[in-house]
Amino acid sequence: MKPLVIDLCCGLGGWTRGFLSEGWEAIGFDIEKHEYGDKRYPGELILRDITTLCGYDLRCVNPALVVASPPCQKLLVYGDALEPR
Ligand SMILES: C[S@@+](CC[C@H](N)C(=O)[O-])C[C@H]1O[C@@H](n2cnc3c(N)ncnc32)[C@H](O)[C@@H]1O
Repeated sequence: MKPLVIDLCCGLGGWTRGFLSEGWEAIGFDIEKHEYGDKRYPGELILRDITTLCGYDLRCVNPALVVASPPCQKLLVYGDALEPR
């Protein structure tokens, strides 16, 4: 059985592509579906706001690993204007 990785904020699947090439299965969560030409997320994609997830949602598929790469608001030009901190 292949190990399963959950990729939170998966985008186009940078993390996922690495895991798939090493023989893992991947489920990605993202708030939107990213498609640019023929580029799209390469694993199973679940459209979901990850701030609505709880631990049980992830435990029930028994992942070997959970990775996350949320947006880097501090590096965005308009980040502070959109989200004061
Ligand atoms: C830094 S990019 C992800 C890069 C990707 N992990 C990779 O390796 O190529 C951040 C992603 O977070 C997603 N995102 C932002 N807010 C989110 C939320 N609340 N729930 C789920 N995904 C979210 C965006 O749509 C975007 O695809």
